[in-house]
Amino acid sequence: MKALILAGGEGTRLLPLTLTTPKPLLPIANKPHLSHILDVLSRHMIDEAVLLTGFGAENFDGFSPPSGMSLGFAREPEPLGTAGPVKMVEDSLEDTFLVFNGDVLSGVDLSAMIAQHRSSGAVATLYLTPVPDATAFGLVPLDASGRVERFVEKPSPEEAVGGGLINAGTYVLEPSVLKRMPAGRRWSFERELFPTLLDEGQPVFGYTDDGYWIDIGTPERYLQAHWDVMEGRVPGVAVTPARGLRMSAQAIGPRVSAGNQCSVAAGARITSSVLLSGVLVAQEARIERSIIGNDVEIEVGAVLTDCIVGDRVRVGAGNQLRGARVAPGLTIPAGGVT
Ligand code: GTP
Repeated sequence: MKALILAGGEGTRLLPLTLTTPKPLLPIANKPHLSHILDVLSRHMIDEAVLLTGFGAENFDGFSPPSGMSLGFAREPEPLGTAGPVKMVEDSLEDTFLVFNGDVLSGVDLSAMIAQHRSSGAVATLYLTPVPDATAFGLVPLDASGRVERFVEKPSPEEAVGGGLINAGTYVLEPSVLKRMPAGRRWSFERELFPTLLDEGQPVFGYTDDGYWIDIGTPERYLQAHWDVMEGRVPGVAVTPARGLRMSAQAIGPRVSAGNQCSVAAGARITSSVLLSGVLVAQEARIERSIIGNDVEIEVGAVLTDCIVGDRVRVGAGNQLRGARVAPGLTIPAGGVT
């Protein structure tokens, strides 16, 4: 079975990191998120994947899949949303296929999901996960047989109360669902294709799995995904040890992930943060609840709280930044910018 992975979004909520690294290539515990997705596929004997790229497509050049897996690429000429890129490769889809959002980390049992898809006779089966508060998501209520009743996008607080099942961004689909979609246009699974299938009375089912699931697409959830891997809550996913780390043990507080070639001086202090690779942190610097891009230099005494710092930034000595998003390549000179 072929798996299509959506990887062409702008990733605006993770700016400025996504200006230089598309979201599926951002590391989770020192390994590109895309590799975690491919590992899930491998575990379920799915050995053919196609990456549907758009924004930042060139960044995927040179990415190598795990051994035994074939990885193809299809690049859209302009952003086509979530369903549009799938329509673009329709000619290559002859049989039941999978679609993955490129920003979901989960331990979903794909084999069980595919088995349910086949036994129910569905044209589309959506992986659904229960959440305690569905306000930020779309609710997907099911009937007693597991069939999707409707889609409630951005539910009101009354509808969201008590939580419910949300679309977890992984689908098993029959090629026939693409037939009535327009080609070459932006089109969404969540807002257009699935509601249309329901209107037509087609069998759309939910596959409910209450195992680990997270969408890594916001800074809070990107950090949380790290803590979940580090603290053993993500089945089948472990921390990849970083190479060339030089860090003083006293400088590293709880919940810190650092990539290859990071260096943290004694007397610095880092808590609840993720450093990508090649980050240099000088003495007396403090970093809290922040994500620091590749090859960033944080000079003596700089303090960063709730920041997202793009690649190759230099934060000069003594700066105090709170809630800042710093564009790649910027140098903030020494001395007191707040
Ligand atoms: P935000 O801008 O922060 O909302 O992120 P995003 O652009 O990634 O959007 P979203 O999180 O809704 O996307 C879900 C998945 O679909 C991600 O894996 C995206 O890479 C992918 N995606 C979103 N829009 C497009 C698109 O226009 N083309 C392609 N190929 N993939 C897309």
